[in-house]
Amino acid sequence: MTQRIAIVTGGSRGLGKNAALKLAEKGVAIILTYHSKHQDADAVVREIEEKGVKALALQLNVGDSASFAAFAKEVKQQLQHVWQRDSFDYLLNNAGIGINAPYTEISEAQFDELVNIHFKGPFFLTQHLLPLLKDGGRILNVSSGLTRFALPGYSAYAAMKGAMEVLTHYQAKELGERGITANIIAPGAIETDFGGGAVRDNEALNRAIAGQTALGRVGLPDDIGQAIAILLDDGLGWMNAQRIEVSGGMYI
Ligand SMILES: NC(=O)c1ccc[n+]([C@@H]2O[C@H](COP(=O)([O-])OP(=O)(O)OC[C@H]3O[C@@H](n4cnc5c(N)ncnc54)[C@H](OP(=O)(O)O)[C@@H]3O)[C@@H](O)[C@H]2O)c1
Repeated sequence: MTQRIAIVTGGSRGLGKNAALKLAEKGVAIILTYHSKHQDADAVVREIEEKGVKALALQLNVGDSASFAAFAKEVKQQLQHVWQRDSFDYLLNNAGIGINAPYTEISEAQFDELVNIHFKGPFFLTQHLLPLLKDGGRILNVSSGLTRFALPGYSAYAAMKGAMEVLTHYQAKELGERGITANIIAPGAIETDFGGGAVRDNEALNRAIAGQTALGRVGLPDDIGQAIAILLDDGLGWMNAQRIEVSGGMYI
């Protein structure tokens, strides 16, 4: 089988890092992006390379769509330089931040930051990378359980994720002629740095969510990383335009 290559945005920490490692365990080469944590990204690259798989880290601000043309050019050069390829196979639009602010108080600046990172960013980043995504390739976007159930403070964040779910349908429809699938994974609450690490570090919150989860605990990065590696497996190539929630049965 030819070497598969995945681009993982936000691969320096949390779910993106875990997914990159799980994909690498399946032999998938990784181009991961980071925003500010260069050293963390380099450490992930080393960890992947210890598994005998090639990886590299590129800086990217998904909130800055003006930078995407240059980023795509850099990806093209690296594909050629490292793999002697002019395409990659999987795009995981994962990078993101959490802002918790009540609907009555959230500012326009906070809204703009969320929309740029969580909707406009993946919308246009994918558009810029499409010429490099192989025919028959895969797009996997990342949503949240918060599009199905409402928790106070997440109106803007969850609305952007909802927009990504709609976009995923349209990507599947319009890119089907190239054999490209588009799906979206919706994790429940997971212990990462996300939103200041609240799910991991706030014991009361952790317990409360565990109590509302059928499997009796909050999610761990491994729960999502391994799901992503499965969702991008060849055996699921016929799955298209789907929202797949991976939450242990949160708020059911
Ligand atoms: N954790 C959860 O409970 C949860 C639940 C549902 C959905 N999600 C979604 O899962 C995704 C990953 O979250 P996580 O929990 O892994 O978060 P995390 O641990 O905080 O990691 C965030 C990642 O995104 C990158 N990033 C942040 N802002 C960026 C920007 N402006 N441009 C480019 N990259 C940026 C970070 O890069 P640096 O390391 O360089 O800062 C880091 O790699 C997000 O889309 C989030 O909305 C998370």
